[in-house]
Amino acid sequence: MKLLSQTLCLCLVLALSHAHHHAGHQGGEDEGHEGHDHGHHAGLLLDRCQGIEMDAVAVTEEGIPYFFKGGHVFKGFHGKAELSNESFAELDDHHHLGHVDAAFLMHFPDKPTEHDHIFFMLDTKVFSYYKHQLETGFPKDISEVFPGIPDHLDAAVVCPAPDCEEDAVIFFKGDEIYHYNVKTKKVEEKKFEGMPNCTSAFRFMEHYYCFHGHQFSKFDPKTGEVHGRYPKEARDYFMKCSKFGDTTDHIERERCSRVHLDAITSDDAGNIYAFRGHHFLEQDAGNDTWAADTIESDFKELHSEVDATFSYENHLYMVKDDKVYIYKVGEPHTHLDGSPKPLKEVLGVEGPIDAAFVCQDHHIAHVIKGQTVYDVDLKASPPVPVKEGSFTLFNKVDAAMCGPEGVKLFKGNHYFHFQSVKVMLMAKAIPEEHKTALELFGCDH
Ligand SMILES: *[C@@H]1O[C@H](CO)[C@@H](O)[C@H](O)[C@H]1NC(C)=O
Ligand SMILES: *[C@@H]1O[C@H](CO)[C@@H](O)[C@H](O)[C@H]1NC(C)=O
Ligand SMILES: *[C@@H]1O[C@H](CO)[C@@H](O)[C@H](O)[C@H]1NC(C)=O
Repeated sequence: MKLLSQTLCLCLVLALSHAHHHAGHQGGEDEGHEGHDHGHHAGLLLDRCQGIEMDAVAVTEEGIPYFFKGGHVFKGFHGKAELSNESFAELDDHHHLGHVDAAFLMHFPDKPTEHDHIFFMLDTKVFSYYKHQLETGFPKDISEVFPGIPDHLDAAVVCPAPDCEEDAVIFFKGDEIYHYNVKTKKVEEKKFEGMPNCTSAFRFMEHYYCFHGHQFSKFDPKTGEVHGRYPKEARDYFMKCSKFGDTTDHIERERCSRVHLDAITSDDAGNIYAFRGHHFLEQDAGNDTWAADTIESDFKELHSEVDATFSYENHLYMVKDDKVYIYKVGEPHTHLDGSPKPLKEVLGVEGPIDAAFVCQDHHIAHVIKGQTVYDVDLKASPPVPVKEGSFTLFNKVDAAMCGPEGVKLFKGNHYFHFQSVKVMLMAKAIPEEHKTALELFGCDH
């Protein structure tokens, strides 16, 4: 059985990779800049934008969600599938099933022996990894490590107090729910009426999500109650996919997406534009409402996937790879003659860059590339980038903007606020993190 499925799998990989070479780079538009990672063949086999039901989800100790499907893992919200045995070799060695039933990150700082261990459940066995290494003595039987918890689980999620009454792990099997008390090892069986059977579950940004099919529901971990309009489409919120249907609400999805922004800027009038994948959100000055549209519709030449954007003298500068697309602000945004221009000619730096911004009433562009921040006098010709400083707090940022109240740096789901560029460059500690979806876009969940 195992041999047969592996052979079948290998044939498919070969057949698909063969077809891929002949078909050229179809479907490459979703690859973005991260499209060159490993697991290339594996990625062809599984495309999460097709709408797949995940077997298990766990957030690593670095905060990156890993989605497992068959023998593959998707790391984060975008990028290709990799073979899970490349990251967790022993799952394969000891057990040749090629799938994970359930996974979770044990996160209890006062339980140092298990804190930040990732647990995988496969059939009757449990595997514990710490810092991506299998702990000695594992795999063990589920009944030994979690007495009272059945084999062949569907999902598991960690639930620290006060989310659950006491520190617990919630296990799911069919419609049976088991609250496993981490301290007393007591098991409380529950039924979560009104909640679908979960095939995977995870805790993310203090919320609990149950996945079923390619949809998900947010639930109360104590009672299983689902509040609000669920289920929702997993691809809208937890995956970076372009189009996969016409029925989705762009505004709701873009405001609430947990996928990082590509770029953001505020123009001279105070209108804000935020870009992600193929879409952008716009908020006009003095209006709390966000509108969303495709980049294609308003910035046709740019198409999608911007690296950085900044506003200067009533123009939007959009940087993509080593080109700058310049639009005059207004309805419609008009693409300037002679644009796109080489990045080198506009900012004097080599692409790709991560972020750029101009603070109000200045003519200095602050350009972020990796951990280096350059300033570029936009009035000078040719432009001369001067190294302004480097970040020690962040290894990479996704986007940045500057407004009357200072600089905002965006990374993952969060943004960080600094009074000024100077304060940002001098900062010795990462300031309070703000949730982008909630605090900037006003998403209520
Ligand atoms: C991982 O699994 C694939 C497919 O089953 C196999 O071809 C490969 O040799 C495995 N790699 C490792 C490192 O075990
Ligand atoms: C949920 O799981 C139970 C078994 O525990 C099963 O009887 C029921 O049909 C499942 N519901 C759905 C919608 O699959
Ligand atoms: C605010 O913005 C929304 C979305 O763009 C728009 O529909 C609405 O008319 C605007 N309201 C005002 C008062 O301009």
